[in-house]
Amino acid sequence: MMARRVVTNPDSRLLASIQVPGDKSLSHRALIFAAISEGDSLITGLGSGEDVRRTIEAIRALGVLVDGPEIRSPGSSNWTEPSAPIDCGNSGTTMRLLAGVLSTSEVQATLVGDKSLSARPMNRLVAPLEALGGRITPSSGGTAPISVGGATDVQGTSFAIDIASAQIRSAFELAALAAPISSVIDSPPGFRDHTERWLIAAGLGEWSTATAFRVDPGTLAPARYDVPGDPSSAAYLWAVAAIHRGSEVLTPNISLNPGRLGFLQVLEEMGTEVEALVTGSIGGDPVGDVKVTGRTLRAVDVGGDLVASTLDELPLLAVVATFAEGITTVSNAEELRAKESDRIASTTAMIQALDGAIEPATDGFQVVGTGFLGGGEVDSLGDHRIAMAAAVAGLRADGPVEIVGAECAAVSWPAFYDTLEEMW
Ligand code: S3P
Repeated sequence: MMARRVVTNPDSRLLASIQVPGDKSLSHRALIFAAISEGDSLITGLGSGEDVRRTIEAIRALGVLVDGPEIRSPGSSNWTEPSAPIDCGNSGTTMRLLAGVLSTSEVQATLVGDKSLSARPMNRLVAPLEALGGRITPSSGGTAPISVGGATDVQGTSFAIDIASAQIRSAFELAALAAPISSVIDSPPGFRDHTERWLIAAGLGEWSTATAFRVDPGTLAPARYDVPGDPSSAAYLWAVAAIHRGSEVLTPNISLNPGRLGFLQVLEEMGTEVEALVTGSIGGDPVGDVKVTGRTLRAVDVGGDLVASTLDELPLLAVVATFAEGITTVSNAEELRAKESDRIASTTAMIQALDGAIEPATDGFQVVGTGFLGGGEVDSLGDHRIAMAAAVAGLRADGPVEIVGAECAAVSWPAFYDTLEEMW
């Protein structure tokens, strides 16, 4: 059923400290690393959303026991063949990382997804994984369902991809652990390098250049992961502070991987006060506290290498840009069209539904900082990042914003709307 949610402007300043749910990217990786290793791992702080639940169910289907934070795996060489297709739901990371690790395994599986995931490009995995001798066959449109696994002739290789995609890099790197010799993956910069940092911490790889990573085959030991908060979720709270001048939001214990911080960098460039303090690390990946204070905003240009580290937050940037003086331009971001929705179209529709001024382009969009959004109805199109950006808009709009299909926020943050209401 399509749930509706109405968000209204509280007309006050926000002063809040909020621990956001566990990082989605790190949760998927922690679960998959634990599933590959033989023995008992312990993962605390896992993301609470539907996407992470899909990865939990997926590794269960391979014979891994998951009981709260305790994970017991027979190791990837002893996985059981799943008796039914593995349903990755809406989760691109579940599907792409699993496709990688399964492609060079003996286990054969079929990966399926919901309507949105079934329309997203999976053919981009084929060439890199086949170069390793992995087996992967998407459907004729290059999409899910995907058949993976049953590999007999895995080999080491070097491969360069032409998009800065952490999902494809990670799929390759996980697949390459099963090769008889080392392999190298390269791509343009800007990607989140969680997998690389964790492989280095496990003694299974090294950087060859700033972007090329060498994976050394070997076994992963069971591990303990304390997953920090998700910066892509915290971003909605930072945006609320940014568009309410004088507001302050503190988000403690967040993943501070440089590939995740593009949006903070952009907010700072727009005039927002940002303080990020590294307090620790998880597998060589920095973790810390972020405080954002709203100040007068000016427009910004986002393009080039900054796009990859800002990508998931670009619909939200369109909302913030409405309240910045000048014209904000996002370019080189055609990858937005391959997300949970075509995010150039859905971001444009969202801003226009609220009487904002946005022009779509083939590789991004332009937003005029009119300083105004009106009330209205926004269709999430089943995309959590659109629903959540629209909710942030509602907290500053002149009238109520009604989000149609609001329930999809549960993909990354089930308690999102309640948190927005309770934090004032
Ligand atoms: C992710 C990588 C990014 C990001 C996605 C999560 C990951 O996708 O947009 O939400 O956890 O590796 P791409 O790798 O396709 O850029």
